[in-house]
Amino acid sequence: MKWWFLLAALPLHGQRATLPEFVAGDQCLFCHRNDIGPGWQKNRHNLTVKLKEGSESEYRLGARERKRNLRKSGYGKFAMEESAGGAWDPAKFNDRCAGCHATAVDGATKAFAEFSIDCYACHGVVDLEHTNDTSKILLSKKRGRDPKQIASICGSCHLRGGTSKAKGTPYPLHYVAGDDLFTDFVVDPRRADDTGLNAGDRHVYRNIRDVLENNSDVSCLSCHVVHTGSFERHRRVLTSAACLDCHNESGPKKNVKPYTVKSALCEY
Ligand code: HEC
Ligand code: HEC
Ligand code: HEC
Ligand code: HEC
Ligand code: HEC
Ligand code: HEC
Repeated sequence: MKWWFLLAALPLHGQRATLPEFVAGDQCLFCHRNDIGPGWQKNRHNLTVKLKEGSESEYRLGARERKRNLRKSGYGKFAMEESAGGAWDPAKFNDRCAGCHATAVDGATKAFAEFSIDCYACHGVVDLEHTNDTSKILLSKKRGRDPKQIASICGSCHLRGGTSKAKGTPYPLHYVAGDDLFTDFVVDPRRADDTGLNAGDRHVYRNIRDVLENNSDVSCLSCHVVHTGSFERHRRVLTSAACLDCHNESGPKKNVKPYTVKSALCEY
């Protein structure tokens, strides 16, 4: 291995100087089209940015809470419409959104490598040797579940409100799944106690704080199955204070406190 390759590949002062090469989702799905493909077509991670039907340069971000129109504006860049029929902002998507709604954003140019969220965002740099030994790939069944690693991976997008120490962006610089998110991404753990924050965002803060500060072994994956979008398994988790974001202290669990997800960062 050449020394410059090592420099590019290893985190420098906690952050990578550049992003590594990665295998794109199309290639993964060539082999995983039967197990992962069908669910992936409907997965919100895959659909967060979508090419508009019949177009080659018009995209839309979001679907449920709010839709935003995007338009290709150069390599790895989108212009974003402020509101329907409104002005087009040439920089906002890349400056403020791309790190969580696109894949592999370059810190210097803010250009993304792929629109929407690719396999790489959660599985990291995949060794194609994993076909023989699945412990070589992050989040495989053999690899086991390290709650701190999962907190970093999922937290890299779901901790809405964090800031990159190096860049000031609301998303981390050059984060690659498997790295420690918190060398660059600064978040305020007290938001777990902020009752003004909706339970959707608050339970994320709480879970990550429990993992990082109290060594909890409950992770996002104790409750969520990403590829099916199910949270059914959460019913089997031991009752703790974390349940109170959505359930009452006493009484049956079928009582759920209603909440609405809002986000100043995401503008809805
Ligand atoms: C730190 C990561 C992060 C950044 C930066 C970010 N988002 Fe989001 N965004 C998310 C996450 C996570 C969700 C899903 C939250 C949920 O449903 O609980 C989301 C959801 C959304 C949704 C709702 C999607 C739907 O269909 O319901 C829209 C719209 C959105 N974001 C727009 C934006 C825009 C516009 C920007 C930039 C101005 C932006 N986001 C920046 C992480 C981020
Ligand atoms: C948002 C994060 C995320 C993205 C993006 C993602 N995965 Fe996964 N994947 C996971 C998690 C988490 C697991 C572990 C299973 C579990 O416990 O839910 C997993 C498991 C798997 C498995 C093992 C089978 C299984 O269901 O346990 C395969 C194969 C896989 N992913 C392939 C892919 C491919 C191919 C892509 C891209 C098309 C992709 N993943 C994108 C999070 C993700
Ligand atoms: C050449 C075919 C091939 C390609 C390309 C490929 N995989 Fe795999 N993958 C396999 C095989 C074979 C296995 C082991 C059998 C199994 O569990 O499906 C596997 C296993 C996995 C597992 C672990 C499943 C488990 O049992 O826990 C994950 C996660 C995964 N692949 C993700 C990916 C991702 C992400 C990509 C793209 C970056 C990718 N694979 C590309 C063939 C491939
Ligand atoms: C690269 C950014 C990114 C990463 C990494 C990521 N997510 Fe997401 N996630 C999003 C965005 C953005 C949305 C909302 C997409 C939309 O609706 O447009 C979302 C939606 C979700 C949802 C609600 C929709 C559903 O499918 O149920 C869950 C649950 C979720 N993510 C869990 C996870 C977990 C668990 C991990 C870690 C294994 C993870 N995410 C990693 C960005 C990310
Ligand atoms: C103790 C179980 C549990 C843990 C741990 C947990 N979640 Fe959840 N989460 C849930 C349940 C249950 C829901 C469904 C709530 C609903 O639909 O009202 C949910 C909903 C969500 C949503 C959708 C919010 C919305 O309505 O838009 C996202 C995104 C999410 N979780 C991400 C995460 C991430 C990321 C982690 C890890 C940091 C995590 N969750 C940890 C149980 C959990
Ligand atoms: C983010 C919100 C959220 C959190 C946190 C959460 N739950 Fe839930 N829970 C829900 C929602 C929404 C439902 C109703 C949907 C369903 O039945 O899965 C539910 C349903 C349940 C049910 C089924 C109740 C019934 O009789 O139908 C059980 C049991 C349960 N939760 C246990 C727990 C436990 C234990 C915890 C803490 C470890 C927890 N929940 C944390 C949102 C949440």
